Amino acid sequence: MTQLPGLLDTEAIRKDFPILDRLVHDGQKLVYLDNAATSQKPTQVLDALAGYYEKHNANVHRGVHVLAEEATALYEGARDKVAAFINAPSRDEVIFTKNASESLNLVANMLGWADEPYRVERDTEIVITEMEHHSNIVPWQLLSQRTGAKLKWFGLTDEGRLDMAGIEELITERTKVVALTLVSNIMGTFNPVEDIVRRAQEVGALVVVDASQAAPHMALDVQALQADFVAFTGHKMCGPTGIGVLWGRQELLNDLPPFLGGGEMIETVTMHSSTYAPAPHKFEAGTPPVAQAVGLGAAVDYLTAIGMDRIQQHEHALTEYAVRKLQEIPDLRIIGPATAEDRGATISFTLGDIHPHDVGQVLDEQGIAVRVGHHCARPVCLRYGIPATTRASFYLYSTPAEVDALADGLEHVRNFFA
Ligand code: ALA
Repeated sequence: MTQLPGLLDTEAIRKDFPILDRLVHDGQKLVYLDNAATSQKPTQVLDALAGYYEKHNANVHRGVHVLAEEATALYEGARDKVAAFINAPSRDEVIFTKNASESLNLVANMLGWADEPYRVERDTEIVITEMEHHSNIVPWQLLSQRTGAKLKWFGLTDEGRLDMAGIEELITERTKVVALTLVSNIMGTFNPVEDIVRRAQEVGALVVVDASQAAPHMALDVQALQADFVAFTGHKMCGPTGIGVLWGRQELLNDLPPFLGGGEMIETVTMHSSTYAPAPHKFEAGTPPVAQAVGLGAAVDYLTAIGMDRIQQHEHALTEYAVRKLQEIPDLRIIGPATAEDRGATISFTLGDIHPHDVGQVLDEQGIAVRVGHHCARPVCLRYGIPATTRASFYLYSTPAEVDALADGLEHVRNFFA
């Protein structure tokens, strides 16, 4: 068995993930390499979800009975866990949403409705990048169309990195907001957020970071990042679907208007107008995703116990190995950084002129689950002149043997289409 320095004890970790023992297609061992789309869930998270529904289920905040108090304590306890996980200065800066897309839409809408100095309007500018997931493109396109603000973006280098030349012309006195991903969901690239924050601060622009592909894989410290908003989702980090997070700086959350109106987010309501609860509740209209928050809290406990730095080290070792193995395959072209430096454990590639959907299907027949398509980052495919990629993405339970299985599987694909 291949041994690499820095690997986690995957034999022990994999025991926590029952689904990884599944067989597919008449007895093939499952090789799950679609972690950038969603991670698998450990028993600890599954038990927390079941335990919540079996013993504590009630609506939160308003009830006076014991179950309501327990459910509220569990929901708010999950907020404490997430706040500690991202080193937020205050738990009140952590807003629970449905997913990262909702978190990003929330910010874009707030900025369209905000008063000065945050208001995005005609004669102001929004800056994004060409490597964003659609969830960090479309909300800003909508905001631009609705307000008349101009949408601009950082382009990409041939190596799959942000083209930082021209940052001073891109982020100017007119810029109100810069929104970018910390780690690309399609190429795995780590972005130099600190340089962008520095420039944004010079011109008084807000910075919104999509950390969906970072929070599961590395220690995320919102204070060190120095951005104004950070969004991520629970289901990619061992948590359930239906729960996302938006962290925002307290003074901004106090000043900015709500996005969705309804129960839970108000202070008082008359037939003429309403006043709003303080953050985070101002941004959590309606019954929140209570069970999902509890599950996310359990996921945070699970990841923290293993250690985010150890998880990053594990994935880095695997990525180094995978990049090396994949580059030995004739006709395979990595789309994105071709080394393991400054990149995460998500690797997109093309294989000669075999369509990625065919690659994915023949891999699937061998039990290997990868993702194919544009990965909701279509501008990246357009930039590199390809219709789609095949994407393998690793996580804390991934092993060198699974990298070997992928490489062997791709050889089989080549022979199949030869
Ligand atoms: N956002 C998910 C991905 O990148 C679905 O695959």
